[in-house]
Amino acid sequence: MTSEQADRAVLFYESRSFNYDDSWHDHFTQRFAAEISIQPGQHVLDLACGTGLLTFLEADAVGSSGHAIGVDVTPGMLRVAEFKKRKEPEKYAKVDFYQGDILKLQDIEALKGKQFDVITVSSALVLFPDPASAIEHWTEYLKPGGTFAVDSTHPRNLIPGMVLERVARRLDLQVPYNREWSQNESSLKGVLESAGLNVDKVITVENQSGYGKRQYEVGQWDDFFVENVIVKDVARTFANNDIRRKAQGLYKEEWERLAVNGQVEEIDSVFLGVARKPADGSRYVASSSSKETVFEGGCRCGGVRYTSTQQPSHVTFCYCRACSSISGSGYLPFFHVDDDALNFTHTSTMKTLVLSKFADRFFCTGCGAPIGMKYHFEEGVTALVLGSLDLDTFKGTIPKVEQHIFLREKAPWVTVPDDGAKRLETFAFAGQMGIE
Ligand SMILES: C[S@@+](CC[C@H](N)C(=O)[O-])C[C@H]1O[C@@H](n2cnc3c(N)ncnc32)[C@H](O)[C@@H]1O
Repeated sequence: MTSEQADRAVLFYESRSFNYDDSWHDHFTQRFAAEISIQPGQHVLDLACGTGLLTFLEADAVGSSGHAIGVDVTPGMLRVAEFKKRKEPEKYAKVDFYQGDILKLQDIEALKGKQFDVITVSSALVLFPDPASAIEHWTEYLKPGGTFAVDSTHPRNLIPGMVLERVARRLDLQVPYNREWSQNESSLKGVLESAGLNVDKVITVENQSGYGKRQYEVGQWDDFFVENVIVKDVARTFANNDIRRKAQGLYKEEWERLAVNGQVEEIDSVFLGVARKPADGSRYVASSSSKETVFEGGCRCGGVRYTSTQQPSHVTFCYCRACSSISGSGYLPFFHVDDDALNFTHTSTMKTLVLSKFADRFFCTGCGAPIGMKYHFEEGVTALVLGSLDLDTFKGTIPKVEQHIFLREKAPWVTVPDDGAKRLETFAFAGQMGIE
């Protein structure tokens, strides 16, 4: 039995298999391979290998004394890989491809009892709902001291797809990717470290598919909606007319939210990380440095977890109607962390909802806990719910409450503490947001 994620991936990739190699992936896998040092004689495992673009490069590097194995779940992709192998049987005698779900490597007979010098995952990590758990599973097959290499997308890369992902989350629909966590180099570093790996480097690879940066007109949302939601909807996620109508409105809204001066910018970059399993086979624990994790947090059931390398700041109690009803009480207490310092390490049950025009809110669908929100008017900062912070992990003191906001919407049964904090009828950005 394959995972739901794998079933969706097959739907997504089967129809692309026959012309997958006529894309930028060929060039990108060469750049990926150049960042890892593979030695003759080594044993390499290329997961989500697709048509084997990277696997064949790895086979070249390990030579006849080594071995390269590619695993993928999509039959069409593997047929192309096998075809290429058959064309050069002698050269590729030491390459093997296996079909299987890489979230369940234990089910693949050929991998039983094996450990590899190098494991790679190219252009696939953002297909998995919980990247850290997936990496942890994959690296069970990595030798102590072995190398793991993976990439994840820049938040502005492949913008139409990212907008679609946000729309799907708002409609509670499944799409075959999960990119929201991959914000910068430190997000990928954090995910690798949470999987117990020691990170050698994380770099930004620019010009992944060759265009660098490009601008779209804000009015172009409609073209991308048709392309992504109607033409490319292989899993028929949006096939129902009612869902499609709702998706159309949300697609426009999410697209417009990304626009600056009427233009939406797309950046053709990815983050590429190379990490190692500690030589004694143990889990790597990040050492103390200026980037030390100062607290962890998450929801009640563990489906959402995060780490922060920055102390909490700007403690704010919000009494708006949305916070009141979400909390089930009269208010929600928040604190701020810069996005650079925050890493969502487990996101399998995380859902984003827009409940007011000011912010996207994150929740855990497993236990219902509110996690935090991102304001539309303030980039680079996330507000986390104070109750999501694990005090057991916290090295520091929670700052004093700075402000009580949206007091004009406060429920009558709530008493605001007399703590000397600022009291605002709305909030500091009210003018900017056009609030009276
Ligand atoms: C964008 S392609 C990348 C292929 C290749 N690594 C490359 O760089 O050209 C993503 C691949 O991930 C595979 N994939 C997705 N989920 C998978 C899963 N659970 N198990 C195995 N393969 C999976 C898909 O079948 C597809 O071939």
